[in-house]
Amino acid sequence: MKKIVILISGRGSNLSSILEAHSKKAWKATILKVISNRPDAFGIEIARGYGIPVEVIDHEKFLTRAEFDQALYAAVESLGTDLVVLAGFMRILPDFFVTHFSGRLMNIHPSLLPSFTGLRTHRQALDQGVKFHGATVHFVTNEMDVGPIIAQGVVPVQLNDTEESLSQRVLKIEHIIYVQAIEWFINDQIEIHEGIVSINPPSPQSFSIVGD
Ligand code: GAR
Repeated sequence: MKKIVILISGRGSNLSSILEAHSKKAWKATILKVISNRPDAFGIEIARGYGIPVEVIDHEKFLTRAEFDQALYAAVESLGTDLVVLAGFMRILPDFFVTHFSGRLMNIHPSLLPSFTGLRTHRQALDQGVKFHGATVHFVTNEMDVGPIIAQGVVPVQLNDTEESLSQRVLKIEHIIYVQAIEWFINDQIEIHEGIVSINPPSPQSFSIVGD
């Protein structure tokens, strides 16, 4: 059984789709805990609804960033975690954390990386007039929004899109690709060679939503 810890900061829609998949599929995995750095994150209620233990490690309660980082690391490491899933976790993890969990620390980013790193990715996409946008699941490295790409999902950009409408379309594909990437990890299907991820046995790593 793979031991999974999920880190969140907010709404928790990715968390919700992962917990739903975990409850319905026969994954050889235990979701040990959901950790939130915000006491008011809606995702906390979602986790409780699935009976998953929740821990709040509120970054505002720590005097220094280093103390928060250390508390988070201790909480995750003490559980013997195999996979750390960042599901809308909006804190930058320190190098020692990323290095320790290298190859078993996943993130989802709402853009087709390497395009549109950072924040407000849907605004960036609209401002550039791109016709396709999407989301990426990748392993985390010490550079922000960079790291071996496990899966990508593409959605069309419509002429009348707003940040809100585009983000809703991207969210649908996020929920598909994150569940798939986690399932591959649980089944030991992920191989990384010189920074490139492949799936064994081979499986498409690109996904798309054609309509609305
Ligand atoms: C998602 O869109 C996720 O891709 C993004 O935050 C949102 C969280 O939503 N993550 C990042 O921007 C990380 N750089 P959720 O809480 O409903 O899953």
